[in-house]
Amino acid sequence: MIENMLAMNKTNILGLAIIMVAVATILSSCHDKRSRGLEYAPNMYYPIAYNPDQKNPIFENGISAQVPPIGTTPIGFTKFDEFPNTPEGYTAASTGITNPLPVTKKNLVEGQQLYIAMCGPCHGPKGMGNGHIVELGKFPAPPSYSTGNSSRGGAMNQLTDGKIYHTIQYGLNLMGSYSSQLSPEERWKVIMYVHQLQKPQ
Ligand code: HEC
Repeated sequence: MIENMLAMNKTNILGLAIIMVAVATILSSCHDKRSRGLEYAPNMYYPIAYNPDQKNPIFENGISAQVPPIGTTPIGFTKFDEFPNTPEGYTAASTGITNPLPVTKKNLVEGQQLYIAMCGPCHGPKGMGNGHIVELGKFPAPPSYSTGNSSRGGAMNQLTDGKIYHTIQYGLNLMGSYSSQLSPEERWKVIMYVHQLQKPQ
């Protein structure tokens, strides 16, 4: 008798559970499909400002993400247009720009770290043109900073801030440009360190 009652209870509980799930399903399906239900502090995730991908009635073309006006410079970006990748641009850079950073131990150490990572594989740890890629026989040796000659004329140890910056910006023959790997500030730190390597090693 008791066993029978337990069996009945189990059936009842199961039945009730099924009905509850069915009711919940029906109720929730009546809901607006786009609603996310109860929203806590909606101002936090519905910004008043337009999102870049949203339509925008303020602009004529109706787009929020506008292209910057011609002639403007993005924040943190340094223009180099006046020194094009030509022999004239190279010479103009030589006298036209100088390192804006002070020579400090910190800047030199950071410049050294960047140099070792970016330039050392070819130019070598001391700038002698014997980096490990060169030693493996995979790459022709760049001229030594302290004793070599530039293929553009003059001694490597006479290369100015602007000439080195121009080289980092555009590259030279087999050496590629490093403009996307090094920010202007990082380039100046590397240049500061290259000047150390131009001294007799
Ligand atoms: C893939 C190897 C390689 C890497 C990496 C490399 N260079 Fe060079 N670099 C060369 C070669 C080769 C030359 C000689 C190019 C020539 O004169 O034809 C050269 C030349 C130069 C010159 C002389 C430019 C001139 O006016 O004659 C400078 C300065 C220079 N590199 C700086 C750097 C700096 C700074 C870095 C790191 C940001 C760097 N290089 C990374 C291979 C490299």
